[in-house]
Amino acid sequence: MNIRKAVIPVAGLGTRFLPATKAIPKEMLTIVDRPTIQYIVEEVVASGIEQVILVTSEGKAAIENHFDYDFVLDNILQKKNKERLAEELNHISNLIDIVSVRQKKPLGLGHAIWSTRNVVGDEPFAVLLGDDLVLSDEPCCHQMISLFDEVHESIVAIQRVPKDQTSNYGIIEGQPYKKRTYKIDRMVEKPAPGATDSDMAIIGRYILRPEIFSLLEKTEPGHGGEIQLTDALLELSRQRGMYAYEFEGTRFDAGDKLGYLKAIIAFGLRHSELGEAFRKHIKQVAENF
Ligand code: G1P
Repeated sequence: MNIRKAVIPVAGLGTRFLPATKAIPKEMLTIVDRPTIQYIVEEVVASGIEQVILVTSEGKAAIENHFDYDFVLDNILQKKNKERLAEELNHISNLIDIVSVRQKKPLGLGHAIWSTRNVVGDEPFAVLLGDDLVLSDEPCCHQMISLFDEVHESIVAIQRVPKDQTSNYGIIEGQPYKKRTYKIDRMVEKPAPGATDSDMAIIGRYILRPEIFSLLEKTEPGHGGEIQLTDALLELSRQRGMYAYEFEGTRFDAGDKLGYLKAIIAFGLRHSELGEAFRKHIKQVAENF
């Protein structure tokens, strides 16, 4: 079955980036020359998905505007003979069909996903979290769709993390199934130190079967008093089985200040126009300090 829809929750407050995010959504913070959310949407497009469902809250209109067609700006750029720039902007507004759903209360990631149930309907879908940027040859989401075509069950992306960082993530325990793939036995959201021996952390990429919605409906508040997606996924893994996939690529936590800086360097080095000059500069900096 084709994965046609991708849910991108963008309702979070972005308190980790204050004061930068006081008046702009954290998803609009720039990496080189585009907001972080654009990298996520481009990954969705490159994975062959047809529609993005943003889960928004108050104060997130800038994200919707970014992907909209700006008639006035387009006209001004055309008149000033800045066709190339105008083309680039039009390209962004034509990337993919985007719809928004409001998360009416800040009740957690599980609740944000549940809010999209009527738009997603009865079909498997992708979820991409805006803080996690992945640099890879094949888009991370596409790698997971290929696995879904084979196993037809829900999948979470995972990455090994140092043991002292497991309490920042959802952690899975499982048995090797095939290369880079595990059959999940257990999952726990932000485990207390010592609560698990596993170092396999959930990264913000999921392919989910629609059965998740009825499970989310019944999920009680968990870690931090929020309705946790991980808790509903644990139930889904018990009922149907579920897989964890160690994706190929490098992940950056753009929701964290250091992770954000690392992402700027990596995406800067890969940039088609600036990459070469930036590489030279980085070398010089490394030599001089
Ligand atoms: C969310 C998920 C968590 C996952 C993480 C990945 O947590 O709840 O399971 O490991 O994203 O970035 P958050 O970082 O939103 O607290």
